[in-house]
Amino acid sequence: MWYKVSIFLTFAVNSWCAQENLVQNPGFESPLSGHWKAVGFSIARSSDAYNGSYALKCTGRFDLSPGINAGDIDVKIDHVKHLFGWGTLVKDQWMIDSNYRHYQDMVYEYFNTATTQGLKWKFDKGTATHPDYSQAMACVDTLKEKGMIVRAHNLFWGFAKNLPPYVVHMSRDQLNVTVQNHLNYMINITKGKASHWDVINELVHGQWFEEQFHDPDYSQDIFRQVKLLDPKPLLMLNDFNVVARPEIADAYLQQAQTFLAQGVPLDGLGLQGHFHDTVPDPQQILLYLDLMAQAGLPLDVTELDVWQQDPDVRADYYEMVLRVLFSHPAMHGIVLWGFWDQHVVDKRSSLVDGHDLTINAAGKRVFNLIKETWSTHVNMSLSASSTNFDLRGFNGDYEVTVLKNGAKIKVVPFSLFGKETTVNISVDSNIGTLLR
Ligand SMILES: *[C@@H]1O[C@H](CO)[C@@H](O)[C@H](O)[C@H]1NC(C)=O
Ligand SMILES: *[C@@H]1O[C@H](CO)[C@@H](O)[C@H](O)[C@H]1NC(C)=O
Ligand SMILES: *[C@@H]1O[C@H](CO)[C@@H](O)[C@H](O)[C@H]1NC(C)=O
Ligand SMILES: *[C@@H]1O[C@H](CO)[C@@H](O)[C@H](O)[C@H]1NC(C)=O
Ligand SMILES: *[C@@H]1O[C@H](CO)[C@@H](O)[C@H](O)[C@H]1NC(C)=O
Repeated sequence: MWYKVSIFLTFAVNSWCAQENLVQNPGFESPLSGHWKAVGFSIARSSDAYNGSYALKCTGRFDLSPGINAGDIDVKIDHVKHLFGWGTLVKDQWMIDSNYRHYQDMVYEYFNTATTQGLKWKFDKGTATHPDYSQAMACVDTLKEKGMIVRAHNLFWGFAKNLPPYVVHMSRDQLNVTVQNHLNYMINITKGKASHWDVINELVHGQWFEEQFHDPDYSQDIFRQVKLLDPKPLLMLNDFNVVARPEIADAYLQQAQTFLAQGVPLDGLGLQGHFHDTVPDPQQILLYLDLMAQAGLPLDVTELDVWQQDPDVRADYYEMVLRVLFSHPAMHGIVLWGFWDQHVVDKRSSLVDGHDLTINAAGKRVFNLIKETWSTHVNMSLSASSTNFDLRGFNGDYEVTVLKNGAKIKVVPFSLFGKETTVNISVDSNIGTLLR
C-alpha cells in the first residue's frame, strides 16, 4: 500500500463586492509615504494608471489572504478592484516568485502529491461559457513536470453558497446546460492530468442541484458523465465533520452506499480532517474510520490540519492523528491543508514558519514520521550488469514480481515494518537481494 502526503495550493480570487471609498489618497495620486501598507505582497506606485497619473502595483504575493491597509481600514485584496472601480491586479505570483523557490523545493522534497484548489467553480473565473483556468492549469502542468501527483478540487458543490453567483438564479434548463458546459469544459482541460477529482464537494451538507431539478440522482449522473469523459482520475466525494460527528458520519456512509448500490463510479471517500480547537482522540478517530471503511472504498484524508498554538503540543497532536490515520487499512492517502505559516488557513497549524522556512517542532515531528520512521528509500544494483531498482515507499505490504522476457516467473510477497528487512529471491541460479 502506498501513502502520500500533500499540500494544497491556492490561487488568486476576485470576488467583487460593493464598497464606498473610505480611505485617504484612494487614487494613489500622492506618494504612499508609509500611509498604505501591504500584507502578503509588495506594493509600489506605478504610472500605469486607469485615471489620474498613478496606480498601485501589487507583486510577489505570498500570503493566502493578502490585503492592503491605510490607517485602520483594512482592504482584502479580493475587493480592491471594486473599491476603486479600476486597477489591474497583478497575477497571483507566488508560484513563480523566485524568493520562494526554496519553499517549492520543500514541497517537492517532502511531498509527492498536491491538491489544486484553483479548479474550483466556486470562484468566479471568467464566465460560465468562457471560464479561465489557464493559470491553474499552468500550475498543474508545472507540478506534473516535477513528477508530482495532482488532485483536482473541486468540480461542483452541494450548496448554492459556494457556487458562482451567476448560476444560482438561472432557470432549470439554463442551469442544466450551464452545468453540462462546465463539466465538459473542466474535464476536457484536465483530461488525463488529475489523479483524483473531488466531484461534488460537501454533498452530505447540501443537495442544491437535487432540489433545483427535483431529481435525487442529479449528482450521481455527474459522476457517471465525468467517468465517461475521463476514466483516469479517481472520483471522490469529499466532506467535513465525517470523522467528528456521528450523524454526519452515518449520513456520509449511507450516501456512499447508495451511490455504490446504483452503480455510480465512486472510487473513494474524502474525509476532510480538520482538527480545530480539539484534543484529537485516536480511539474516536479509529471508530469513525472503521465506520467509513464499511463502504468498502479507499479513504483519503484530504484536508488535514490540526490547530494548536504551542508547536510542541501541536507536534504531539499531529503525531496522534497521523499515527491513527496511517494505521488504518482503508487509508490510501493523507493530504495536509497547507503547511507554511505564510500560506495556511490558520497559523496554528503550520509546520514551517517565516520567509526563511524554519521547520518548527511540529514540522520536525511530521517530516520525521513521513521521511524516516514510515518510509524507505533503497536504490541498489542487482547484478554486475546494469539491472538495478529504486524503491521508495512506506511501511506496509509489497510484492516483488520477477519477469523474464516480459513473462511473470515469480511473485514474492514481503513486508516492511521499521526494521531492516532482507528478501532473498532465487531465480534459477541468480539471487537478488532487497534490503531496507
Ligand atoms: C478615477 O475614477 C474613479 C472611479 O471612476 C473616480 O472615483 C475618481 O474620482 C477618478 N479619479 C480621477 C483622478 O479622475
Ligand atoms: C441535463 O442535460 C443532460 C444532457 O443534455 C440531460 O441528459 C439531462 O436529462 C438533463 N437533466 C435535467 C434534470 O434536465
Ligand atoms: C479541449 O481543450 C483543448 C485544450 O486543452 C482545446 O484545444 C479544445 O478546443 C477543447 N475542446 C473542447 C471541445 O472544448
Ligand atoms: C540509483 O543508483 C544508480 C547507480 O548508483 C544511479 O545511477 C541512479 O541515479 C540512482 N537513482 C536514484 C533515483 O537515486
Ligand atoms: C539472504 O541471503 C544472504 C546472502 O546470501 C544471507 O546472508 C541471508 O542469511 C539470507 N537471508 C535469508 C532470510 O534467507
